[in-house]
Amino acid sequence: MYSIQQLQNIIIEAIDARKYPDEPAELYEPMQYMMNLGGKRLRPALLLMGCDAFGGDIYQAINPAIAIEVFHNFTLMHDDIMDNAPLRRGKTTVHEKWNSSVGILSGDAMLVEGYKLMMQVNENVLRPVLEIFNDTAIAVCEGQQIDMNFEQQPDVKINAYINMIRLKTAVVLGGALKIGALIAGARKQDADLIYAFGEDLGIAFQLQDDILDVYGDPEKFGKQVGGDIISNKKTYLLIKALETANKEQLKELNYWLQLEDFDALKKVSAVRNLFDQLEIREKSEQEMNWYAQKALQSLKDLPLDEVRKNALFEFADMLLVREN
Ligand code: IPE
Ligand code: IPE
Ligand code: MG
Ligand code: MG
Ligand code: MG
Repeated sequence: MYSIQQLQNIIIEAIDARKYPDEPAELYEPMQYMMNLGGKRLRPALLLMGCDAFGGDIYQAINPAIAIEVFHNFTLMHDDIMDNAPLRRGKTTVHEKWNSSVGILSGDAMLVEGYKLMMQVNENVLRPVLEIFNDTAIAVCEGQQIDMNFEQQPDVKINAYINMIRLKTAVVLGGALKIGALIAGARKQDADLIYAFGEDLGIAFQLQDDILDVYGDPEKFGKQVGGDIISNKKTYLLIKALETANKEQLKELNYWLQLEDFDALKKVSAVRNLFDQLEIREKSEQEMNWYAQKALQSLKDLPLDEVRKNALFEFADMLLVREN
């Protein structure tokens, strides 16, 4: 069994060793830039943990682990265009450093690269692995489109929001674990249980991401704090605020949501102030903890020795106290 630290070191080393071709520079430089910006490397760690938990050889899972990280970085590159985000991992986003066309094409190439890497598994698991990868990738697209649609939609309900983040974020965590489990030769029902753990953990993870977007420390967060407020993202925080505001608070909230020309800092501070009055942070953390507990229950139900599950329990604990 490997510790989380060991698995992360293996991943970091494998990713650092990767070098993209020089030409055309506008295609490959942004890919190299994105991959070398750092990031927590959570998804490849999960993939290796899924493999390790079922007694697999993690070196059979390294290329798929890199694949899931390359895929994730592709989604980030396109997400930053869609969200008009200036900062990623503390650095300028690709579409701002180059331009949106570059961000689109380099992102496309990363998706293809992800597939090439994902195919590097034993022939006997190739088809099921690619099936999960396909389902994951299309779910992310669905989630991302719903996320964009919700920006213009004033009456988004909590259930619809949870489904949206399940699609855009949580399926990738579940998918990573399940792919790792299948490479290790896990039984289908066990692979499904570890998927359920990852999916609920992923929902908790995106709730935390939404909380950090409002309450994160700009020095540590690495992204623009308040970005979700600026673009009227229907996060758990905003939906809950709309649900619980009194008449006056609702009027003020709607004033900011409808305003087209505004000072970004003023909007962020006014909306955050309303969130504070409504104790939205606490309510969001409660929701996050509920999903984290649900995830842990699936992990408890998994018929594996406790020692095989230790790293996963530890990972779940670590994930929800992060600052970036
Ligand atoms: C950011 O993911 C996108 C979300 C799904 C919230 P991470 O927070 O894992 O980003 P990096 O890879 O560590 O930068
Ligand atoms: C994006 O969610 C999830 C994907 C990249 C698919 P966010 O838009 O909240 O991610 P960040 O906050 O920009 O990392
Ligand atoms: Mg987004
Ligand atoms: Mg974004
Ligand atoms: Mg976010």
